Amino acid sequence: MPKHIILDTDPGIDDSLAILLALASPEIVLDGISTIHGNASTAQVTRNALAILELAKAGNIPVYAGCELPLVQPSLLSPETHGDSGLGYAKLSEPLGRPQLKHGSDFLIERIMSSAEEVTLVAIGPLTNVAMAIRKEPRIVEKVKEVFIMGGAIRHQGNTTPLAEYNTFVDPHAAHIVFHSGMPMILTPLDVTYQCIFLKEDLDRLLKIDSPITKFIADATRFYMEFHDEYQKIDGCVINDPMTLALTFMPEICDYESLYVDVDISTGVGLGNTFADFYNYEKKKPNMKVALGVRPRMFMELFLERMEKLAESLSAR
Ligand code: RIB
Ligand code: CA
Repeated sequence: MPKHIILDTDPGIDDSLAILLALASPEIVLDGISTIHGNASTAQVTRNALAILELAKAGNIPVYAGCELPLVQPSLLSPETHGDSGLGYAKLSEPLGRPQLKHGSDFLIERIMSSAEEVTLVAIGPLTNVAMAIRKEPRIVEKVKEVFIMGGAIRHQGNTTPLAEYNTFVDPHAAHIVFHSGMPMILTPLDVTYQCIFLKEDLDRLLKIDSPITKFIADATRFYMEFHDEYQKIDGCVINDPMTLALTFMPEICDYESLYVDVDISTGVGLGNTFADFYNYEKKKPNMKVALGVRPRMFMELFLERMEKLAESLSAR
């Protein structure tokens, strides 16, 4: 039986790869997308989500625009990482579809509370929509099957400040609400995503297939690779979000520890920093499973194979 997924996302280059992986994976059914400010404005990421779905001939999947600002912090978009459009150098035609009228946070509530099937939430952007949904309808905490979160850095350095990862830095207060909600969470931090670098040779393998999908991936990741080279001296690019999505149906890619994890909401240099209480100083029960070990080639092979299949099914022939 396929797993029903709802995806809260800020597409974003690696988010777009997660959407494509979801569409290319028969183990899951993507029931809908809620969009969130982050890599680009909510209006822009909503347009991008619609355009990516239509690129993959999945324009029937509903998209719901969510919050436009963090709960407390000022807006922090990332054009230097994802480009002004949020999709790097990729140029997608204006989507024919429009977002649904319901707010993204209300979509999360409605889908979790109403579903006959249990639903898995995958959150790969700042957690503002998820936090709002918890505050509006606290019962989602018990009802949701599981929550996969891309975010945080446990033993790894930050990618936005020396200590903080982007999603938890952009809205640390939302992350704090979610981390302390009691939801059944699985966290995919930079500790594992930075071991899974999408390389030029991986892209060259995909480009053997002439398809709008491979052209999109090339144009989007070329920008993302230039960012990683210039800012972090990394050869390739870190595809955090598709890796998080992959764990919903292939958990064996990673090794996990059940830990008490918190996020710093003080106003100092540590804002947005996430940390695990490995020695249980606080005597608190673990609040999530954290992926801390990874088999990088297992993930990358899965990702490339699924992109090849999707590209072939939509080849330019
Ligand atoms: O820190 C990486 C995360 O922040 C990814 O989800 C990326 O898309 C950005 O949202
Ligand atoms: Ca993201």
